[in-house]
Amino acid sequence: MQQQNKKTTVSASEALYARALDVMPGGCSRNTVLKKPHPLYVAHGEGCYVTDIEGIKRIDFANNMASLIHGHAHPEVVAAVTAQLQKGSAFTLATEVEIDYAEHLCSRNNGFDQLRFVNSGTEAVMSCLKAARAFTGRAKIAKVEGAYHGLYDYAEVSQTANPKNWGDASNPVSVPVSHGTPASALNDVVVIPFNDIGRSISILDQHADELACVLLDLIPHRVGLIEASQDYVHALHQWTRDNQALLVCDEVITFRSKYGGAQTGYDVLPDLTAMGKMIGGGFPVGALAGRRDVMDVMNPLADKVLFPHSGTFSANPVTMTAGLVSMEHFDNAAVEAINRLAEVTRSRISEAIALADIPACVTGSGSMFRIHMKPEAPINYRDAFVSPEEAKIIKALLDHLFDNGIIMIGTCTGMLSTVMTEREIDILCDVLLAGFRKIKPLF
Ligand SMILES: Cc1ncc(COP(=O)(O)O)c(C=O)c1O
Repeated sequence: MQQQNKKTTVSASEALYARALDVMPGGCSRNTVLKKPHPLYVAHGEGCYVTDIEGIKRIDFANNMASLIHGHAHPEVVAAVTAQLQKGSAFTLATEVEIDYAEHLCSRNNGFDQLRFVNSGTEAVMSCLKAARAFTGRAKIAKVEGAYHGLYDYAEVSQTANPKNWGDASNPVSVPVSHGTPASALNDVVVIPFNDIGRSISILDQHADELACVLLDLIPHRVGLIEASQDYVHALHQWTRDNQALLVCDEVITFRSKYGGAQTGYDVLPDLTAMGKMIGGGFPVGALAGRRDVMDVMNPLADKVLFPHSGTFSANPVTMTAGLVSMEHFDNAAVEAINRLAEVTRSRISEAIALADIPACVTGSGSMFRIHMKPEAPINYRDAFVSPEEAKIIKALLDHLFDNGIIMIGTCTGMLSTVMTEREIDILCDVLLAGFRKIKPLF
């Protein structure tokens, strides 16, 4: 990897950011690209490498926030999408590729009787919650404290809760994210602690007649990137059976963990599943899938449509083509190979932590890993919560990684792509070891 040169003149990225600040709040449309003192602008990406407009090439462990399962510009995706673009990108008529892709995704999971496409993970989660409400006739939803599910008012409650406002662990407060969130939205969200059966069931019981669904990410990134326990998933599933509510899984990120999604590692299936990110093959996407009778609330052919559902770019043939080609390439063998490489990565990061002798740890599952500046793996959101001191150490480590050719997600999380090899893992672990030694005095 090339070392970044210190420049005294204004860099090309700096000059672009000055223009961007004038026309976009914060100079961008998504906060994830921000980097101080300015974001880096991309020239091109290929495989697991991204080159910025300054000409610096880095290994990409962020993969557009876990959405590029085969890295950048996968040749077969590029060829298929190019062919589709020449035929048109979106129509007010149906396209066959939508059916092909729906059939493919439904074939990956026994619980996917039917499916509908949308344009983002946010929209997929929102549509699941609205479908659950339409199916049950109830307004409230339950979600895990700290779990990120996109921007829908209800789904984002408690996502950024902190020690000053999160309240008692036995009854977590519904903390808003955006200023001005309606109190009615907060009242309609019940917050439960991750992997804590006793507390969660007792909280759910207090709202038993009002809950449409329990929304669950099985390996929630912001909650620590730790797996939901078998017992926890069983308990929530059973509770929803006993109380005529639905279990909704957010697999927007975790679908990558197993061929049919992380849920296939448990012996209960959710009623509805939200997907997104990698299933778009690099293009904006979302999908919701699940039980036929539940999905039927969106059926426009019914006498009474309980949840009218549409979207201008939903199932556009460019996304459908890219998604289908990508997911066909993400077969059982590819899933196993990437997960094996990630297992090696996690254990090599643990070794580097031990060698540097710092109080850090690594969590993760499937093809994902997250490094915490804590000696023990966290067990829930409160435990995973990043203190201001830890945030400083994480920033120093991320800066070191970036300056030495590694792009990661801001929580110190990495997502592998199928085009990575042990070579990239060797580089990552060498750079990390040097980084761990560098940050040691900050603990
Ligand atoms: C688990 C989960 N759900 C939903 C979303 C929202 O997806 P999108 O950014 O496509 O709206 C995200 C995005 O990071 C996510 O990680």
